[in-house]
Amino acid sequence: MIGIMGAMPEEIRHLIPHIQNVRQQESGMRVYYQGTLLGTPVVLVFSRIGKVAAATTATNLILEYGVEEIIFTGVAGALHPDLRIGDVVVGRHLYQHDMDATPIMSRFEIPLLGRHFFETAPAQTDRALAAAKRFFEGMNQYVSEQEKARFHIAKPEIVLGDIASGDVFVSAHAHKTDIQESLPSVQCVEMEGAAVAQVCYEFGIPCTVIRTISDAANESSELDFPRFIETIASNYSEGIVLEWFRQYNGLQ
Ligand code: ADE
Repeated sequence: MIGIMGAMPEEIRHLIPHIQNVRQQESGMRVYYQGTLLGTPVVLVFSRIGKVAAATTATNLILEYGVEEIIFTGVAGALHPDLRIGDVVVGRHLYQHDMDATPIMSRFEIPLLGRHFFETAPAQTDRALAAAKRFFEGMNQYVSEQEKARFHIAKPEIVLGDIASGDVFVSAHAHKTDIQESLPSVQCVEMEGAAVAQVCYEFGIPCTVIRTISDAANESSELDFPRFIETIASNYSEGIVLEWFRQYNGLQ
């Protein structure tokens, strides 16, 4: 059983019709869609936004549904200057940029775990990178030229890189600069990935985080955000996750 998570309804909505024999169950203010996706047993859920919401949902997926791995799909704000809106980042190391228990321990250190980040497994990240590549090859099936043009998406890139999560929508230049300077390897920021990665680490299962760049994590971040989620991110999630399962099954 594989868990598929997004933070917002739009990030998972287009996947629901692909689930066969779907059973819908409500628990802890979440709706879980259980069934098979391209032949593989899955549970799909949107967690709502933030680290607590994501961590409780991931824990429920593991304890209630027995998922053996989790894929998280959603959007992120770019930190790296080379990233463009519409690029995809597959998480390698997941940091919590708002974790700060100094002076008891070093900044960003996760208490009692003695680590500053959670690592994703190469088998999972390779599959996610291959899925994103296949998605871009057939992207026109999912995203119209008009919508791509609206967001100036021309030749989207795929990056394997570090991601930082925190309970903040980063939209101030000063905050962005602080994260860039203190965590220089980080490509983009979001609000859930490292929380899911921590839960997966603690339960000993693999986790994959796939993020579409929706904004530049600065003062213009809220511009067009709802439209991006609705018309771009929702289709990216659908296409990349379907390709992920095609890779997983060795299907064409
Ligand atoms: N998700 C998408 N854009 C984001 C941003 N700028 N900050 C945090 N999470 C995000």
